[in-house]
Amino acid sequence: MEKSFICLAVTESTLDNNIKRILEYKDHIDMVELRADFLDKEELRYLDKFPGMTDIPAILTIRRKSDGGMYTSGENERCALLEKGSAGKYQFVDLEEDLENEDITARIKEKGKTIIRSFHDFNGVPHDLASRIKKSGQRPGEIPKAAVMPLCTKDLDRLLHSYKECKGIRKILLGMGTFGFPTRILASYLGSFLTYCSAPQKCAAPGHIDPVALENLYRFRNISRNTALYGIIGNPVMHTLSPAIHNRGFSQTGLDAVYIPFQVDSVKDFFPVAEFLDIKGFSVTIPHKEEVIRYLTQQDKSVEQIAACNTVLRLDPGWRGVNTDGTGFMEPLRENKRLESFNNLRATVIGAGGGAKAVVFSLVSEGVDVLILNRTVGKAEMFASPYHCAWGGLDSEGLKRMSSYSDIIVQTTKVGMEPDIQGDPVPGYRFKGHEIAYDIVYKPAMTNFLKRAEQAGCTIIQGKEMLLGQGFVQFRLFTGKEYPDKAGIKALL
Ligand code: ATR
Repeated sequence: MEKSFICLAVTESTLDNNIKRILEYKDHIDMVELRADFLDKEELRYLDKFPGMTDIPAILTIRRKSDGGMYTSGENERCALLEKGSAGKYQFVDLEEDLENEDITARIKEKGKTIIRSFHDFNGVPHDLASRIKKSGQRPGEIPKAAVMPLCTKDLDRLLHSYKECKGIRKILLGMGTFGFPTRILASYLGSFLTYCSAPQKCAAPGHIDPVALENLYRFRNISRNTALYGIIGNPVMHTLSPAIHNRGFSQTGLDAVYIPFQVDSVKDFFPVAEFLDIKGFSVTIPHKEEVIRYLTQQDKSVEQIAACNTVLRLDPGWRGVNTDGTGFMEPLRENKRLESFNNLRATVIGAGGGAKAVVFSLVSEGVDVLILNRTVGKAEMFASPYHCAWGGLDSEGLKRMSSYSDIIVQTTKVGMEPDIQGDPVPGYRFKGHEIAYDIVYKPAMTNFLKRAEQAGCTIIQGKEMLLGQGFVQFRLFTGKEYPDKAGIKALL
């Protein structure tokens, strides 16, 4: 099967600036789409000159406002511009499916151009998507294009089935927005003639990836129908660093595999997607770590014990769940030279939400005496009960008790996380310097909690250590191989 092309959509207001943009990304792209609807009016006079200014194959597009573009003048004027522009050396001209002026199609085709016959839907995935593509696909000299906006995981599933229904037709079919994001990366896997991208500071359509990330982070050039797919489900998910960890690992191990973020609003609806795409394994992040357990056919002891699952592996048939958060959390502590053993240690865990689960379980399993402090005291009590831990509130009394549970202090709440980086869940606690302060938040790398601890002379452990720790175990489960160059990725993050 053919590999898909990478097409950079350029949206500068002058032709010269568009050329500059192309030069910036030249090594990462195969084609360029001139979005002439972004050009200053006087620049439109030179539309036909643009393809001569670059040696990259070009598409001419003048997108109407109603299709997500910037063009607001009359349709006759737009058609005249398209026709005049197409006198230039464009290989493709984008004409909408509902374009009323049929003569223009014939005249542009006479000039040897291929028509990209497009339609856009920003309100979902239309039910007649496949039949519309098939219909356009029958027109000689045309490539049907549909850019649709999946609004939920179920929509993504329906979109994926449209690829199957249109198999064998040369087409451009892409999902916009965060739910559609995987389709932009998987163009070669799914069968789309090209994928569009844009410069990060000039995003031309919802969900466009920048060409460098597409190629380097998401391994676009390596992906084919045979590539093994992995991913992460979450909501939100686009901020996650896991693709950077796993794709670098795949690349350095020479594996034909890619790891993609999936925005998922319903875990139940994701499983058909995973089946359809033949996903080999996936990570699970907030808020799906508990919900996903319902859909597992097999669960490791780690999932039962922590009552949360962050790793799902394909069985034949079914799915196996593992929790690598506990191992990931413990790894930096085990490596810490100050700790010879966990026996007789006393630790405070701040927070009693999802993030605290693997932390408390792992510490208690090692024999550490744990105090759980939480803003909502009732939750701390409930959380502590099965582990027979001490508990309390984030009040002056809690902070006082903290001093006697201070070999290790773990921060598991969202306080201090981007965007509210000023936060500190225990501003009243004075670090003495003997504590190991561990924050599971990894954005920012240095939270206020860690900064204060470091200033007091404490040993600190950043959230990225746990993120990497659980990722390395996951990589081994996904691939059967040890993660390559652990120091390299640690430095990169
Ligand atoms: P999740 O389970 O997804 O991690 P959560 O149940 O909201 O999310 O848990 C987040 C943790 O951060 C909880 O311990 C929460 O304390 P409450 O149980 O009192 O809600 C804690 N948390 C969130 N915001 C906080 C804040 N501003 N100050 C202190 N703790 C906070």
